[in-house]
Order: sequence, then C-alpha cells, then structure tokens
Amino acid sequence: MQSDLSSKLHVGIIMDGNGRWATRRRLSRLRGHEAGVEAIRRIVEAAPKQGVGTLTLYAFSSDNWRRPKAEVSALMALLRFYLASEVESLVKNGVRLTVIGRRDRLPAGIADAIGRAEQSTADGAVLHLRIAVDYSARDAILKAAALAAGMGDLTREGFSRLVTGEPFLRDVDLVIRTSGEQRLSDFMLWESAYAELHFTQRMWPEFQAEDLAEALASFHRRERRFGGLQPELQEMVGEMEMSV
Ligand code: IPE
Ligand code: IPE
Ligand code: MG
Repeated sequence: MQSDLSSKLHVGIIMDGNGRWATRRRLSRLRGHEAGVEAIRRIVEAAPKQGVGTLTLYAFSSDNWRRPKAEVSALMALLRFYLASEVESLVKNGVRLTVIGRRDRLPAGIADAIGRAEQSTADGAVLHLRIAVDYSARDAILKAAALAAGMGDLTREGFSRLVTGEPFLRDVDLVIRTSGEQRLSDFMLWESAYAELHFTQRMWPEFQAEDLAEALASFHRRERRFGGLQPELQEMVGEMEMSV
C-alpha cells in the first residue's frame, strides 16, 4: 500500500506563524495554535486531492522545549486532543498516521495515544500523514549513524531507512514554510536533499487548500535536474559529443 503512495508527491510543511497570527489579532498564542489545528484538518483533507501521497507536518521541534512552560503544555494538550478526536475521521478518509520524533520526553500517556492512533490508522492507503513531534533532523541522523556503525557498507537507501524508520519513504519533493521565514529549522535535512522550497507570507492558521494548490503549481513549473542537465540540453549535448 505504501508503495502506491510513494508514486505520489511527498510534501513537508513547516507550519509556522501561529503565534504572530494570534498576536496580531490580540488573541493569546494558544488561540493561534488552536487555529493551527483547524488548518491541519483542511490541508489533510485537501492534500490527497492534489496529488500528495505523503504529507509530513512539523508540529513541535526538539528546540521548541525552550518555549515557556505554559505554551509547551498547551501544545502538548492540543496534540493529545488531536490524537483523541481525529482518529475516527482519519480512518474514514483512508489516512495512515505516523508520528516521527522522540517519544520518551512527551507527557505521560501521549506516547501510548500515538501508538494507538498509529495502529488504528495503519491500513490507510489514501494519504500517509506524518506528524513531527519532539523532532530534530540532526538527532534523527545522529541516531541513524549510531545504528549504522558496524553495519558495514551502507547505501543511501539503507541509511534512509535508518533515518526515517520507514522501509521505504519517498524523498521530499517540496518543503513549504509559512509565515515568511526562510529557513529549515532542523526539518528533514536528509530527506530534503533535492526538495524544492516554497516560502509564503501566509501565516499557518490562514493557510488554505488554495495555498497548497498554489505551492504545488509553482512546484510543477520548476525543472528538477538532480545534478543533470535539462532534458533537451542533455539530449543535444549527447548528440554533439557523439558527432565529435
Ligand atoms: C508554529 O508557530 C507552531 C510551533 C512552532 C509549535 P509559532 O508558534 O512558531 O508561531 P510564531 O513563529 O511565533 O508566529
Ligand atoms: C519550526 O518553527 C518548528 C515548527 C514549525 C514546529 P519555529 O518557529 O520553532 O522555528 P524558528 O525558531 O523560527 O527557527
Ligand atoms: Mg515560529
């Protein structure tokens, strides 16, 4: 099932701007995070209709523990709420949920709730939704490197399996970051080696299906060369060399 999804796009989203969105409206940052959950619902629904097979959402970075305790608690409570309230609709819509990142530092009960949600949604074949919580790409790579030590010759594919924890995960095609920031903030550094990047001013709570469509339209206009030449040029240069 997963191999079918891997023929479709893998999009990663750095969901940024919840706090600023709320502050500009004289709301608490928590309200911004709540509105962010609504945006997640919209985009999870829209993504498969737009050719996305895998969607990785950055919800909480390992560096986000630095935020004030109250905000961290509120974010963890929202995660707990999302896991409890969403599973039914994820199953109904054929969404397989997995959570990436560390689980040992999450408040009591959340790791179990994640495990249950992953089990209940395991058969989802319409979209693979990955939510990154207590996630750091550099830590994931370090962990993979420790596992790889002593494994002898390792291919990129083999190392990818260690980094992602998935038997096969398609490399990221497109990374979207909202709120105008233009940085990766330790998100999927290995998997995004050739990802196209799309930055938008839109704050995450106001991100709509149309914004995803716009990002994907821009993605489809781009020419991905993976280090080669553009196809026409590749052919032309090939012919020239033949005739020399
Ligand atoms: C993104 O919004 C959500 C998380 C990082 C948890 P922010 O909370 O970073 O919002 P800004 O960047 O402060 O506006
Ligand atoms: C990145 O956003 C993490 C998430 C969106 C979950 P931050 O708002 O934490 O990133 P920086 O600190 O601006 O780089
Ligand atoms: Mg931010």
